[in-house]
Amino acid sequence: MKKLSTPYYLIDEKKLLGNMEKLAAIKKHSGAKLLLALKCFATWGVFDLMKPDMDGTTSSSYYEARLGYETFGKETHAYSVAYSDEELKKVSLFSDKIIFNSLSQLQRFYPECSDVACGIRINPGVSHSDFDLADPARKFSRLGITSVTDIETAMPMISGAMFHFNCENEDVGAFETLLSHISCKYGTFLDQLDWVSLGGGISYTERNFDRLGFSGIIKAFSEKYGLQVYLEPGEAAVAHTTSLVTTVLDIVENDKMIAVVDASIEAHMPDLLVYRESASFEGTIAAGGYPYQIAGRSCLAADIFGDGYFKKELQVGDTIVIKDAAGYTMVKKNWFNGVKMPSVAVMRADGQMEVIQESFYSDYKKGLSKELRI
Ligand SMILES: Cc1ncc(COP(=O)(O)O)c(C=O)c1O
Repeated sequence: MKKLSTPYYLIDEKKLLGNMEKLAAIKKHSGAKLLLALKCFATWGVFDLMKPDMDGTTSSSYYEARLGYETFGKETHAYSVAYSDEELKKVSLFSDKIIFNSLSQLQRFYPECSDVACGIRINPGVSHSDFDLADPARKFSRLGITSVTDIETAMPMISGAMFHFNCENEDVGAFETLLSHISCKYGTFLDQLDWVSLGGGISYTERNFDRLGFSGIIKAFSEKYGLQVYLEPGEAAVAHTTSLVTTVLDIVENDKMIAVVDASIEAHMPDLLVYRESASFEGTIAAGGYPYQIAGRSCLAADIFGDGYFKKELQVGDTIVIKDAAGYTMVKKNWFNGVKMPSVAVMRADGQMEVIQESFYSDYKKGLSKELRI
């Protein structure tokens, strides 16, 4: 078989199924339904691996909602910070539930939603997030309604609500404290609702996450209020399943050894830059060995994936495997500098590699303009 040229994202089927097994345990013990958050991962070519253990998808836009409906099926939840009239009409044709971000959007569109269950996003004013950038309860947040009077006004129009208040939360105790706050503050409303989504941002699939403890908390919450709970895992569904495989194009020296690879953090793993985090690499050790900075090939001065101690001296042509490259990568990749877009491949459980997406110069060109007749 012809070797796939780098760069490419490589999804490991066995690891993805391993995550699904962990999510299935949460579902079984909590009674919650699990919706894949497409904003994090929307590589629909592998949805067949996820469908048996997840109940559907949740979205942030008309396109995501439609993609979920067309490629995942099962239950389709539509949420958007703001809908236009045109989008709302389309979304209401195939969504099972539409969650509005504000009272004004709910009031405006409710008359058009007679066949769809409506919900509203509530901003509980508390959250677990180490990043201000991703904190849904940050000061002046536009994400969800905050006023109890607004919730009272919304109640006759809704059958459910969404609270998204976590970001990379591994701490079940901290989650429980926040959920108790929500119970105390909104209990009278929860009693009247049929369903609640508790959003995403919880690290269900990390090794030390207390899945049984978490499930017990959700089960008790759901039984107390007679609610169907939905959870919206994004990152947790795909964490540690995928790598970005690259090749060293050049090695330069400026106080440290810098290996330039045929990918770009700005174009192919932009979340790391946004959140000022470093990538980690296969084949490195904690200290010693051969230290290198792994840098991208774009012109951005800080196009740096990170530093690592490699077991051997790197050479031009060596493969560098960047770990944990599934969440918020393929959905955000871009054509900055016209850098070659990574393909997407799946390492099947039987060891066969299958390419599921490739982009070419024509995609780059088409994305910028159409031909004009001048
Ligand atoms: C409403 C909502 N649901 C789900 C998610 C998915 O979160 P994560 O990928 O951290 O699990 C997010 C992330 O921002 C979100 O805003």
